[in-house]
Amino acid sequence: MRITDAGQTVTLAGWVQRTRKMGGMTFVDLRDRYGITQLVFNQETDTALCEQANKLGREFVIQVIGQVQERSNKNPHLPTGEIEIIVSQLHILNTALTPPFTIEDETDGGDDLRMKYRYLDLRRPSVRSNLELRHRMTIEVRRYLDAQGFMEVETPVLISSTPEGARDFVVPSRMNPGQFYALPQSPQTFKQLLMVAGFDRYFQIVKCFRDEDLRADRQPEFTQIDCEMSFVEQDDVINMFEGMAKHLFKLIRGMELTEPFPRMTWHDAMKYYGSDKPDIRFGMRFVELDKLLKGQGFAVFDQAAYIGGICAEGAASYTRKQLDALTDFVKRPQIGAKGLVYARVEADGKVKSSIDKFYPQEILQQMKEAFGARPGDLILILSGDNALKVRKQLGALRLEVAEQLGLRKKGVFACLWVIDFPLLEWSEEDGRFYAMHHPFTAPKPEDIPLLDTDPGAVNANAYDMVINGVEVGGGSIRIHDSALQDKMFHVLGLSEEQAQKRFGFLMSAFKYGAPPHGGIAYGLDRWVSLFAELDSIRDCIAFPKNNAGRDVMIDAPSALEQSQLDELHLSIRP
Ligand code: AMO
Repeated sequence: MRITDAGQTVTLAGWVQRTRKMGGMTFVDLRDRYGITQLVFNQETDTALCEQANKLGREFVIQVIGQVQERSNKNPHLPTGEIEIIVSQLHILNTALTPPFTIEDETDGGDDLRMKYRYLDLRRPSVRSNLELRHRMTIEVRRYLDAQGFMEVETPVLISSTPEGARDFVVPSRMNPGQFYALPQSPQTFKQLLMVAGFDRYFQIVKCFRDEDLRADRQPEFTQIDCEMSFVEQDDVINMFEGMAKHLFKLIRGMELTEPFPRMTWHDAMKYYGSDKPDIRFGMRFVELDKLLKGQGFAVFDQAAYIGGICAEGAASYTRKQLDALTDFVKRPQIGAKGLVYARVEADGKVKSSIDKFYPQEILQQMKEAFGARPGDLILILSGDNALKVRKQLGALRLEVAEQLGLRKKGVFACLWVIDFPLLEWSEEDGRFYAMHHPFTAPKPEDIPLLDTDPGAVNANAYDMVINGVEVGGGSIRIHDSALQDKMFHVLGLSEEQAQKRFGFLMSAFKYGAPPHGGIAYGLDRWVSLFAELDSIRDCIAFPKNNAGRDVMIDAPSALEQSQLDELHLSIRP
């Protein structure tokens, strides 16, 4: 309903947001999926109707018939703020209990309460608009992929364990006592089988399940835009899905991205940003200081395997208190640094640092040059005996400082491909290699000989799409040769029998003409929350789990009745 509808008689239905009595008039804000419309009841023209309106409670469901009229007191903040409805008929379709929190964007309801009454929370326009955005994104994904010849195929949910690196959720089988299905962590093996079957372009918007510790960007059940293509190389997949990203940016955010997304190797991402998903909305690349700062008598640095720093522009004004807070930040157990060294570039260009007594001004000036630092800048330095660990700590510090300096700007998007991941990761704890992505990822052809001699040095044809420091998607070119897949299982420490038992179906499929193939999966929840600029993916999921993995509304998970346990041949250990 807009000003152009003035004079028309209309029927509206929705929920009572609030009622206000002013003199002989009663105003009701009627809320529906599309917004809020002001209803007007006039005591003088229809006393009975107005009295009926005065009795309306919050969240009553009503239907009205009335005439659209231009408002004298316009509300520029509402799309319907120029009009009101002079009501001639009112039907109460249902009454409602007083809701446990206010159904407005700025609600007084805490997290738990809102989750318990999620159906009321979903009435709040901000939450609803996140789901609308999600809907529009899935429509655009389907449009793009359909136009590119991709076919949506459903894959089963009751399967056996998939090797994605997290724990499985399992489902007991009543008909097969003592046996369990696993819920898919992703449809990885099925999409590869679809390639063997000849469906050369597949996609699926699909629920995946992972029993892992939850964070703001992780849910135990989440949705992937899962894709696979045959007869492709890495660039084909990257170009196709960069195209999809650009399509979404254009249609959903109204942003035309014309340049190719930058690509950064995993090694450079770790070296310069201490993260495999760097936020490149801002610079603050690491500078290595080992050569410059070692051997000058400062024991902490002299003993370090790695010394690195970042330069925070304009942050020399940080007070002692702020620097202490940053030191406490890096010393948190989750980050684990031992301490933080800082150096301010003063107005006259001199460098004043917390380690002045070990380093002459000349070396500090060289350090300033290495960062390209200018007066007013602040240099922050970490060191330690494990380069990878220090880089990760410095990466966390970089993000924290950027947050404090307002560099992680809303509405700005920096897309990036991180490529050339190592194929394998060594686990000190287990004394064996694990696949960094999954065991079907293809090594770079030129690195295949290294599988026998130096598996840790093998790079993979694997890529992640990162936007603003969020890993929105990841994929790889797959192994399609059964001998190479055998070798990969061997490197991963699986015996022939174990490999056969877990992946025999895939290994035999590869013997019947498997095309070269590769793909990617995007995390839909992460992408929606990125576009909606949400702090947690929970806010774009209709019925999410809380941080303990619980749905507090339906009270899941919950215990089973003894009869159900018996049927499933299960007994619970006390
Ligand atoms: P991967 O494990 O990288 O790859 O997952 C793909 C994308 O899914 C999203 N994601 C999650 N989102 C919310 N909650 C979670 N718990 C969660 N876990 C992952 C991320 C991630 O980038 N089969 C491969 C894909 C492939 O190789 O084609 C896979 O699942 O955005």
